[in-house]
Amino acid sequence: MKMIIGPAAEGEFYFARPYLNERFWKKLKESHHLSIAAPRRVGKSSFMISLLKNDKEGYRCIYIITESINEPNEFFKKVYKTLLGTLNHGGKFKQFFEDVFKRLQITKISMTEIEFGRNEIDYYEEILLLCREVKESDERIVLMIDEFSQTLENIIMDQGREVARNFLHQCRELRQDLNVKSKISFVYTGSIGLENLVLSIDEPRSITDIGHFSIPPFSSKEANDLITQIVDGDPILFEKEERMYFLEKMNWLLPYFIQVMMGEIESICKEEENQKITRGIIDLAFERALGNRSYFEHWLTRLRSIFKGFDFSFAKEVLNKAAVNKGIDYFELEDTIVKFNINDAAPLVNILQHDGYFVKDEPNRIYRFNSPLLQAWWIRNVVI
Ligand SMILES: Nc1ncnc2c1ncn2[C@@H]1O[C@H](COP(=O)(O)OP(=O)(O)OP(=O)(O)O)[C@@H](O)[C@H]1O
Ligand SMILES: [Mg+2]
Repeated sequence: MKMIIGPAAEGEFYFARPYLNERFWKKLKESHHLSIAAPRRVGKSSFMISLLKNDKEGYRCIYIITESINEPNEFFKKVYKTLLGTLNHGGKFKQFFEDVFKRLQITKISMTEIEFGRNEIDYYEEILLLCREVKESDERIVLMIDEFSQTLENIIMDQGREVARNFLHQCRELRQDLNVKSKISFVYTGSIGLENLVLSIDEPRSITDIGHFSIPPFSSKEANDLITQIVDGDPILFEKEERMYFLEKMNWLLPYFIQVMMGEIESICKEEENQKITRGIIDLAFERALGNRSYFEHWLTRLRSIFKGFDFSFAKEVLNKAAVNKGIDYFELEDTIVKFNINDAAPLVNILQHDGYFVKDEPNRIYRFNSPLLQAWWIRNVVI
């Protein structure tokens, strides 16, 4: 079987969703800059990496990860280095680049690495200068910045809210600078929702110019096709009825959870020397997956880092109730808000929905877990 569990899915492991690519390019044309909003582990990084392979004509996609950056100038340095490494240093702009290299004392330059001899460079200003001077380019750069929201969170935690607010404004100014805008589209994503994070420091206006692109979980058909791609010529039998059972059991078709389950199914089939996937094997795979902390732990750790104090206690209790009782109804939610003295619960509930913990079930007037797998893990590992 062809599975990948954890890292971004690439090449033969990646299940392509061409309609999403089409939608992405359309949105990018309309909005110029985008933020990819999607629950955790839905395939944001995989999607962005897939765009590198099929650059649209007239566009050049570049992918960077800024997860460990916790300081604005470091962030702009990474962007600047990426642009320097991408732009053609010859031709009409040869002199400009030679001057830049001299002024910044660039000691080493290759496709992946640039070293600056000079200290205290204001990289934000350098980006503006670069985009102002290097005018002609056949291609637009689509700069995809993965874990941007983690960078913002790092800056909030390590440098404070004021620095973070200023950083957001600099990013906005960069996006709106005409010289930058004519060359670069910024695409941000991350496993924390950018909107919610920006709201948490009262700065929603700083991202109002960015369009939203969402990556939905898989449809039943896509999940079924992904299973076929995973099984790929293996003599294993996964018949229609059992597949239906599998999909119903998963309910929320996150590609990550499908891969996790297929991994468990494969090892059970090998142990039992069984070539046919049965309901019993699917149930056992579900149980075994629950025993693997690394598949789910980050849902809990992320909750800890997003929410502090009473907010964390509130979020945990709400999720605990939703897990144990197959959902938390609106009255119980209200009681929990009062119990923890939460002033404004809407953003917290929003985060839980956005990040894919639970979904609002309007007809039944409850919030319930998206994924029965995550729900079962939550009951065993978080609810005490
Ligand atoms: N298109 C896809 N085809 C096959 N598997 C996928 C696809 N997208 C996601 N996956 C599965 O989900 C896992 C996580 O994918 P990825 O890292 O792209 O998600 P993410 O949304 O970036 O996650 P995070 O929120 O943690 O950053 C992969 O290891 C793989 O198992
Ligand atoms: Mg990712």
